[in-house]
Amino acid sequence: MVAGIEGRSQLGPCAFATALHRDHEKDRLGKVTDAGRVLVITGAGVSAESGIPTFRGEDGYWRNLDPAKLATPEAFARDPKLVWEWYRERRQCIRNAQPNAAHAAIAKLAQRAGDLLLVTQNVDDLHARAGLPKEKMVQIHGDIFLSRCSRCDWRAELCDAEERGTRNNSGLAGARPSTGPNEHEIQQTDLPYCARCHALMRPGVVWFGEQLPWDEVRRVEDYLGRGACDLVIVAGTTATFGYIIDWALRASTDGGQLIEVNPDETPVSTFATQRIHEPAAIALPRLIDQICNP
Ligand code: OAD
Repeated sequence: MVAGIEGRSQLGPCAFATALHRDHEKDRLGKVTDAGRVLVITGAGVSAESGIPTFRGEDGYWRNLDPAKLATPEAFARDPKLVWEWYRERRQCIRNAQPNAAHAAIAKLAQRAGDLLLVTQNVDDLHARAGLPKEKMVQIHGDIFLSRCSRCDWRAELCDAEERGTRNNSGLAGARPSTGPNEHEIQQTDLPYCARCHALMRPGVVWFGEQLPWDEVRRVEDYLGRGACDLVIVAGTTATFGYIIDWALRASTDGGQLIEVNPDETPVSTFATQRIHEPAAIALPRLIDQICNP
């Protein structure tokens, strides 16, 4: 057995039943690299080794900062400059970071598995930069490099004006499609405004108290609706939100393996068929090597 792995499958009522169960799990894992269906769910722990802080860990954001002041619609209405400053700092931290071995291993599994979907709560772009195609990834809490209008449905990627603003240390993002008037606004107010309706732009992430993006939920539900998974990996998340646990359990309900990678216990732990108490950048490359080269 691999060091650091705990498995419920090893606790069967008798050795025979346990051996049968193991064979079944092996069969399911063996399928992963041809026709297998794999759901991977990630959280901040997967980007921790790239130097991006988690939320609830020892040096996590929510240990020192109040989410109510930074990550709610009310906070944005009260002090948009403060909120934008925090997101701008986080964007810069992510830009300076590199994908780690965990991101690379998941991208490799996506190439080899029959039908893989990654659901990430991370708003960074490290899964994408590691080579995971967009169509295999759902960013359920949004994308920090997108900005969207706080009033209409206008969206914009991070624009050149922000890059310039960052370099000149002179202000916040503007929306790419509206460079002329928007730059004027940036200099006046330090805040980005919508090119279409001139309301404030906001970061393209999900805040506390907000609905998940419907299209992205639909993509997860469609994937689950197409059939059970042979393998579910839940890595680097406290699984605080009910939908994360729900998706993991529903996907693995038909005898699929549920493997959790996390140094700590979480609400998913009791349901896991294997638990790997190690950092994701160590555990995932090894696990995925074992799956791809059984
Ligand atoms: P958390 O900060 O809540 O949890 C990070 C998890 O990663 C913890 O369970 C750690 O034990 C684990 N961890 C830390 N380092 C790790 C490593 N190197 N390898 C593997 N695991 C490690 O982050 P999330 O669960 O992602 O939402 O948080 C979920 C959501 O809550 C975030 O998307 C964000 C936050 O508030 C919003 O902002 C809407």
